[in-house]
This record gives sequence, structure tokens and C-alpha cells, in this order.
Amino acid sequence: MLDLRRQYSPLRRELLDAVGHVLETQQFILGEPVAAFEKAAAAQLGVAHTLGCSSGTDALWLALAAAGIGPSTAVVTTPFSFFASVSSILRVGATPVLADIEPATFNLDPNAVEAVLKGPQKIPVRALLPVHLYGQCADWNAFSRLGEAHGLKLIEDAAQAWGAEWDGVKAGALGDIAAFSFYPTKNLSAAGDAGMITTNSDELAERVKMLRQHGMRRRYYHDELGWNARMDGFQGAILNVKLKYIAAWNHARHTAARRYHALFHAAGLAEAGPYPAHGVVLPHEVPGSRHVWHQYVIRAPRRDQLREFLTARKIGSEIFYPVPLHLQEALQGLGYAEGSFPQAERAAREVLALPIFPELREDEQQTVVNAIAEFLN
Ligand SMILES: Cc1ncc(COP(=O)(O)O)c(C=O)c1O
Repeated sequence: MLDLRRQYSPLRRELLDAVGHVLETQQFILGEPVAAFEKAAAAQLGVAHTLGCSSGTDALWLALAAAGIGPSTAVVTTPFSFFASVSSILRVGATPVLADIEPATFNLDPNAVEAVLKGPQKIPVRALLPVHLYGQCADWNAFSRLGEAHGLKLIEDAAQAWGAEWDGVKAGALGDIAAFSFYPTKNLSAAGDAGMITTNSDELAERVKMLRQHGMRRRYYHDELGWNARMDGFQGAILNVKLKYIAAWNHARHTAARRYHALFHAAGLAEAGPYPAHGVVLPHEVPGSRHVWHQYVIRAPRRDQLREFLTARKIGSEIFYPVPLHLQEALQGLGYAEGSFPQAERAAREVLALPIFPELREDEQQTVVNAIAEFLN
């Protein structure tokens, strides 16, 4: 599914030097290596502030907390994402309100969000938290309009979307504040847990800085209840090396996605969708947006059998995500049930992520498509 050694081999010397420098300077928490990465990241994203932190989950928590989301407020988000998109809202004491997804992009559906906003609100909605799923931005024109019309904070879950763009603006610079993850499988990845918060607001940046260090502005004087959510120096140093290559890696992912499209069409397997009948539905790239292909996700009939068939042939695949969030055991308290979000539920039954990473070879992609053709025929 993912071979990280192919990324490591050509960078070995550079990464070892960067890690060695951290050991020489003993800057283990935040410090110069993280500051250097933050500065380079801000320039790359075109955003005023970037703040390194301990994980994507903590980045979401910090973004929400800095934006003043807490008890007696609600946040609208998607049921089709990684658990942290919703659990972080609960962690700040707020209430997640879910709305269904668009079948073509798997992203939060602005029409469904609008219906929620126009309906009765038990707890006032104060923010929207769209997720840029699989590396493609959620419909930011629509969410900006809704945010403005209803006076809401816009918080991006950009965990899967380093380098993605909407209308020429990079993910991380679209909303009021955004959260990234550098979990090792992400398109920009650390060698452990790490994350980042980005914002153009001086005030929000200042709050994140304070909250990621136990609510301290001045050492050992605690203004608010924060947490330990700092980035460590090794991660900052490694990420700063990889940042130089991410544009080329995203380009290579794009080339690999194009190749999958062509191979599926050549095999006569590509169907128009939005749902598969006999062949597969290929991922849809929204015109005017830039997808970074963090994942290449098809919809397939008999998905679970197909996955077993691929596994038996040593072909990696993954299901992001097999259980929509409203049906997770831990989130039963939200009060949703089977049937609440039919699009998310259907996606959970049909999606299959195929191997995609910058170093993936054409012959490997051909092998994947041949195996899927063999199964479907
Ligand atoms: C959409 C989304 N949000 C949040 C996270 C949480 O990031 P992390 O694993 O770095 O805590 C992830 C990654 O796992 C993710 O994919």
C-alpha cells in the first residue's frame, strides 16, 4: 500500500544530517528546528502563521480551542472522516452536528450543511469543520458563503491535504484556522507523530502558541487551561528537509492518478457513477481545484471480496473508512442511527483506496488494475 523506504533511500544523508544537527544543538522541543520548519511552511502555503504541534489530532483540538469553540456551542462536520474530526470537537466540550457527504467527492455536502443551519438548533452552531478528504479541498466557495451568511468560524481539517488548492489558494489558507497532520502515512510525513496549525489571524496564532504550552505566555504563569501539544525538534528538522520535495512528490502522485485513470479506462472498467454497477467508479477531481492524491479511492461492487482477492495476491489496499462516524460505538451519544446519513453509509460500503505514493511504478499500477479486472470479469 505504501513503501516509505523508497522515499527514505535518496534522502538518507540529508535526513541523518538534519537529525544529527538536532542532537548537536540539543534543541529537542520546539526551538530552532521547529521554528525553521514553521517559517518555510508559512512561505509555501502563503499563510501568515504556522505553528508546529504534536499531532493532527492536537492540531484540531488547538484550532477549535483557539477559535473559542467550547461548551454550549456546536460545530458542523462530516460523518465520513477519521475519528479525530469529531472527537476533537467533543474534547473541547462542544457538540458535533453531522451533515451528509457529496457522493462524487466524499466531502461534506454544503447543501446538507445549509439544511442543518436552516433547521432548529438545540445548541447554536458557531463553526464549520469541513475535511479535505483524500487530498481534495471541500467546496470552499459554498462554505465561505455559508460561513459569512451565518457568522460562523471556518476550520479546515487539512490533515490529508498538504499542497491542495481551491481556486488557487492553498489548503490551510482558506479558513479562519486549519489543522494538518504529519502522521507517517500522510503526503508530507514526519518520523513519528506531528501536526501543524495555520492561520492568517494574529490573535488566533497567539492563542494557539499559548494553548500548546499549557496556557503559558510567560514561563510558569498559566493564563488558561492549555495542554502539552508541542512539536519536537527531530520532527521539525525532518519535516523541513521533506518540505523541499513535497511539490515534486505531489506532482508524482498526480501523474500516478492519471495513470490509474488511463489504465482503468483501457481495461474497460471505468463507470460514470456516482455508484458502481459492474465496473469501478474512479475518483472525481473538481475542476479548478488541485487534488494532491493523498489517496486514490475507487468505488467498487462486492468491495470486501475484491479486497480479499487483492490481499491474496499481495496487493495492498485500504478502506478509509469502514464505519461512518455516527455509527461508531464511541459516538452513540450523538444520537444518530443507521440511515441518518445514507451517502456516508453507502461510501463506507463501497470505497477502496489503492496504492498511491510518489515512487509507485507504472508496472505496479498495471498489476493492480489487472487484478481488479480479473476479479470483476
Ligand atoms: C482527516 C484527518 N483528521 C485528523 C487526523 C488526525 O491526525 P493525527 O493522526 O496526526 O493525530 C487524521 C490522520 O490520521 C486525518 O486523516
